[in-house]
Amino acid sequence: MSGFVVVGTQWGDEGKGKIVDVLASKMDYVVRFQGGNNAGHTVVVNGKKTILHLLPSGILSKNAICIIGPGVVVDPFVLLDEIRLLKENGMTIDHLRISDRAHLIMPYHIKLDELQEKSLAANKIGTTKRGIGPCYADKYTRIGLRVGDLKEFDYFKERLAQVLKIKNEIITKVYNEKPFDFDELVEKFAYVKNQLELMIVNATDMINIALAEKKDVLFEGAQANMLDIDYGSYPYVTSSSPTSGGVVSGAGVSPRFLKNIIGVVKAYSTRVGEGPFVSEQLNEDGDMLREVGGEYGATTGRPRRCGWLDLVVVKQACMINGLTDIVLTKIDVLSKFDKIPVCVGYEFDGKEIYSLPSTISECNRLKPIYKYFDGWKEDISRIRSYDELPLNCKKYIEFIEKYTNTRISLISVGPDRENNIITHPLVA
Ligand code: GDP
Ligand code: IMO
Ligand code: MG
Repeated sequence: MSGFVVVGTQWGDEGKGKIVDVLASKMDYVVRFQGGNNAGHTVVVNGKKTILHLLPSGILSKNAICIIGPGVVVDPFVLLDEIRLLKENGMTIDHLRISDRAHLIMPYHIKLDELQEKSLAANKIGTTKRGIGPCYADKYTRIGLRVGDLKEFDYFKERLAQVLKIKNEIITKVYNEKPFDFDELVEKFAYVKNQLELMIVNATDMINIALAEKKDVLFEGAQANMLDIDYGSYPYVTSSSPTSGGVVSGAGVSPRFLKNIIGVVKAYSTRVGEGPFVSEQLNEDGDMLREVGGEYGATTGRPRRCGWLDLVVVKQACMINGLTDIVLTKIDVLSKFDKIPVCVGYEFDGKEIYSLPSTISECNRLKPIYKYFDGWKEDISRIRSYDELPLNCKKYIEFIEKYTNTRISLISVGPDRENNIITHPLVA
C-alpha cells in the first residue's frame, strides 16, 4: 500500500504545491484528482517561482509520472499554455499524462460562469471565473465532453452539436448574449486534439497497476476542506470534493491504498472570494498578514482575505479527511507579531460551540473565541531543526498538534523547496 494524499485543510492556498513538490522527488506518480485551473499551486526551486494551475506540482521532478486525473476538469487552452511556458523554461513534459475520463472546460463554461456571477450580483460566490462550476454541472447532468472524446473526433463533434444547442439557447435567451459558433469550436478543438492526443491515457488502470506494484503514488488535492461542495460553507464553495474521499472517486482507487493522508495547514487563515470567515481581520493585523505572507491569489491575483488560525476549521478537516499527518506552513510569517490569537471555538447565540453550522445565516452569527499566544519576534526562516525554534514558536506548534490530535510532521518556514523542518519523515 503506497498511496499518499496531500489536501488543503482551510480555504485553499495553504502551500499544497510546495509540499507536493518536496515529496515528488520520492514518488513514482503524482496525480491531480479534482478541481481545475481554479487552483494556483506555487513551487519555488532555488528562488525560481513556478505557478501551476493544471499540471501536477510534481512536474518539476522528472522522476515522477504526472497525471491529470479523471476527476479533474481541464481547460485545454490553459493546459497548452502551461506546457508552453515550461518548455520555454527548458523543461520537458514527457512525463505528463491526461485521463481520458477528465471533463473538458469548454469556452461556454467560462462564459456561463461569468454570466452567473454577474447575475448573482451582491450574492456572487466570487468564483475564479474559470468555468469550473458550469463544467462540473454538465458532467453531472451528463452533457459534458471528455478529454477521451477528442480521440473519436466525429463522436466529439456530434456531442458538441447537441450540447451547443442547449448552451446557446441559454446564452442567447436567458442572458441575451452572442451564441458560440460550432465551426469555430470544432476548429479550436481539432488543434487541441492534435496537441494532446499522445498524452491521453486510461489513468485509472495506470494508477491501479502502479499501486498493485507497490509504487509510490501521491494524490495532489486542489482547493480545501472549507471549499468542499458538501462540507464547505455552501454555496461559497467550489464544485468538487477536495478531500481524501475525493481521491477515491476522482482517481478511481480503493480507499485501502491511501496510507499517508497529509493535511496542509497554514499557520494563519486566508480566503479568496466571498463567504463566512469567522477569524478574519479587517484591520492592520490582516493587512500585515497579507503583506508579509504575500497573500495575493496565485490564479486571479486578487488580494486574499486574512485572519488568525481557526482550529475548529482545521479539526473538521482532520476528521473528514482522516489526516495521519499535518504539514504546517508559513509559520515564519507570524514572526512579526507580538501576540498571536488562535480561534479555538465559537460563541453562537450565547452558547459555545466547536463545529460549523450548515447555513450561512448561522455562520454569520459566529463570534471567535481566541486563545492568545506570545510571539517570538525573530526570523526563523533559516532554522532547519525543531530544537532550534524559539520557545514561543514551539508552544504555538505544540498547541496545534494537541488541539487537532494529529502529528505535525513537517514545518515549512519559507517558500523554497529547502525551507523545511522535518519532525517525522513523511516518506520512508
Ligand atoms: P497552494 O494553492 O496550496 O499550493 O498555495 P499557493 O501556492 O496558492 O499559496 C502559497 C504561497 O505561500 C505561495 O506563494 C508559496 O510560495 C508560499 N509559501 C509556501 N510555504 C511557505 C512558507 O512556509 N513560508 C512562506 N513565507 N511562504 C510559503
Ligand atoms: P488552490 O488549489 C483558494 C475559491 C474561489 C471562490 C470559490 C469558488 O490554489 O488552493 P470556483 O472558481 O472554484 O468555482 O470558485 O472557491 N477557490 C479557491 N480559493 N485557492 C484555490 O485553489 C481555489 N479554488 C477555488 O475563490 O471563492
Ligand atoms: Mg493556491
